[in-house]
Amino acid sequence: MRTIIVAFVGVLALSSCTSAVKENQLPTDSTTVHLRPRFHFTPQKFWTNDPNGLLYHQGEFHLFFQHNPYDKVWGHMHWGHAISNDLLHWQELPIAIAEDSAMIFSGSAVVDQKNTAGFGENAFVAFYTAHRILDPAHPDHYRQTQCLAYSTDKGRTWTKYDKNPILDLGKKDFRDPKVFWHEESQKWIMVVNLPTERKTQFYGSNNLKNWHLLSEFGPEGNTAIPWECPDLFSLPVENQPGKQKWVLLISAEGPYPGFQGMQYFVGDFDGVRFKNDNPPDKPLYVDYGRDYFAAVTFNHTPNNRRVLLGWLSNWAYANQVPTHPWRNGMALPRMLYLQKEPEGYRLLQQPIPTVDFLARSAIKHVNIDLHRIGELEITTPNRENDFYDAEGTFEFADDAVFGFKIFKSDTEETVIRYNAARKKLYLDRSRSGNTTFSPKFTTLDSVDIDTNGEPLALRVIFDRSTVEVFAQKGRYVMSNVVFPSVKSRGVSVFAEKGKGRVRLVNASFRDLMAENNR
Ligand code: FRU
Repeated sequence: MRTIIVAFVGVLALSSCTSAVKENQLPTDSTTVHLRPRFHFTPQKFWTNDPNGLLYHQGEFHLFFQHNPYDKVWGHMHWGHAISNDLLHWQELPIAIAEDSAMIFSGSAVVDQKNTAGFGENAFVAFYTAHRILDPAHPDHYRQTQCLAYSTDKGRTWTKYDKNPILDLGKKDFRDPKVFWHEESQKWIMVVNLPTERKTQFYGSNNLKNWHLLSEFGPEGNTAIPWECPDLFSLPVENQPGKQKWVLLISAEGPYPGFQGMQYFVGDFDGVRFKNDNPPDKPLYVDYGRDYFAAVTFNHTPNNRRVLLGWLSNWAYANQVPTHPWRNGMALPRMLYLQKEPEGYRLLQQPIPTVDFLARSAIKHVNIDLHRIGELEITTPNRENDFYDAEGTFEFADDAVFGFKIFKSDTEETVIRYNAARKKLYLDRSRSGNTTFSPKFTTLDSVDIDTNGEPLALRVIFDRSTVEVFAQKGRYVMSNVVFPSVKSRGVSVFAEKGKGRVRLVNASFRDLMAENNR
């Protein structure tokens, strides 16, 4: 895995001098300016939800995003646009695709290298769902169709195709097309959902304009909530050289009943049909935090590496989160891997390796009997830094309780806690700061982790109002937003006294140097 990461970083490094990111000045008099993440994307102003049209081309990563350019609540959906050369610093560009008589819902984009559509060599071609309200008095009377737009200037300006829609089933709910090039069958594939039916459809095309139905998948897995934002891609299996499997991602209900999240299926795709390896009633979840949704992967990444980007929020309270002048943002991009385990193939996720380029200085500790000390303060509340990359490897007794505390002050803390007796990792934001803006926000999330006698390895990356926990080298991930007050900047590593022995084998707290994205 290390060589893969190094290769990818190499490509990124080569491209990193092509466009310098300018800091975008906005008034800093807002009370929530301290919550603006530094190396996670947030729109300059107003609302965002899903990432759309993710692709890499000639040194630029493109992020289009569901955007309301008029308000801090969902509505008037357009595709906003931002570019980056390291996936951490983003430069926001003008609106890419604007609402017309229909809203522009989620979708994807490809670079048409061979000009299969006739819009020009290397034209960007975007696929989105047009959401048309049929009766303004009843916003719930709508129809969704798949449409196309193209750009011949690397995504800066877009033209909607004059023969839209390209797919219309006469259905109310039919959305979120993901298009990619399928090398084996030499054709374009579109993966798109019938949300209320809990089905994914697969279409094929030679020219990106005419599509024919290949097959359907579902309902399988978790079917409690409508299915949205599918993605399909192949991954090499890390511990089975030469082996490839296909992964189907679906945004639906996550691991917490009633809350949206993401599930994945692992199986095979032969250019026509996807077959799930797992029993249909056994869902697998991508993330065990509360705030990871609508994640899809970039098309055309260097060396075909899989980079996943998700929306870091939850529909349960996304319209209320207490930030200004923006609302919601994206998670840290992640590299994806597959691993064969006794129960089947499982996804591994690791933070995008360009994070390493931000590391400025590290505080390190080795070989500490943590249960004797209780709590080891890493940085004091009055220090500036509220964005860190913290790693720790812990050896522990069967009844130990330990972990990290971040965004800490006398009255606030966000706690990442492992309870060895319960074999569970918790992400506790009950005292994380402003939790009162929605009754659904205060949560104690958890994931079962049995280390089978091995140490627990935690990596926690936090960025002012984001917390992303990668345990056991990315086998378990938890992503949440939190809204601490400006004074809550302490960080510690702890073991509960009176519980079992915990040895901190090693820990490093890397101070990250990132220009504010705004
Ligand atoms: C998922 C979603 C998509 C839809 C978009 C609308 O968060 O509901 O299914 O295309 O958001 O903004």
